[in-house]
Amino acid sequence: MKLTFLSHAAFLVEAEGFKAIIDPYLTGNSLAQHKPEDITGLTHIFVTHGHGDHLGDTIELAKNNDALVIANAEISGYLSKEGVKTHAMHIGGRHKFDFGTVKMTPAHHGSSIPTEDGILYGGNPCGFVIEVNNKKIYHAGDTGLTMDMKLLEVENIDVALIPIGGNFTMDIEDALRAVEFVKPKVAIPMHYDTFPVIKADPKEFKERNKACETVILEIGQSYEF
Ligand code: NI
Ligand code: MN
Repeated sequence: MKLTFLSHAAFLVEAEGFKAIIDPYLTGNSLAQHKPEDITGLTHIFVTHGHGDHLGDTIELAKNNDALVIANAEISGYLSKEGVKTHAMHIGGRHKFDFGTVKMTPAHHGSSIPTEDGILYGGNPCGFVIEVNNKKIYHAGDTGLTMDMKLLEVENIDVALIPIGGNFTMDIEDALRAVEFVKPKVAIPMHYDTFPVIKADPKEFKERNKACETVILEIGQSYEF
């Protein structure tokens, strides 16, 4: 499996016959090096919640690539009306897709959807455990530290994508406790530096994380496992 960091909470996940993007916030993201039109051959899009920095370019990417969007029922309903192919799931649910399995995990956060006509209800925010070819990644989404993360220990996560930026999500202090709960083989910090209010130093997280290996990805850099 190949994971590429696109900045913020956006990652590409690639395996044979599978090319997914998680939380594709590219347009309006000052750190992003990719434009939506640079991303081709997408088969799936995962959306953790309705906020603009996660829903991002989902509609354009889904339509351009004829990709299937996997999100909670409320976001799926909204996207279906916009003409996008969706697969609705909800918290705690696991489903077997042709590429592997997906489990939707809880996140403590909000999920409203900003639209031209105002704010829409976006259901509950989530994270994802995505298993492809017996490799598992956990994208925590935007979340505070929660005891629920302890339940993920039995999943034997290979790579956990963990927010460290604080203010809207866990900070480094809580992210360190989160990886102790989840016990992944590798943690990759995310959701930092995009806005002044979420400035954080991933090197501090790496130095202090004794629970697992830490891999800091530069924007555009990939990690294969
Ligand atoms: Ni958010
Ligand atoms: Mn966010």
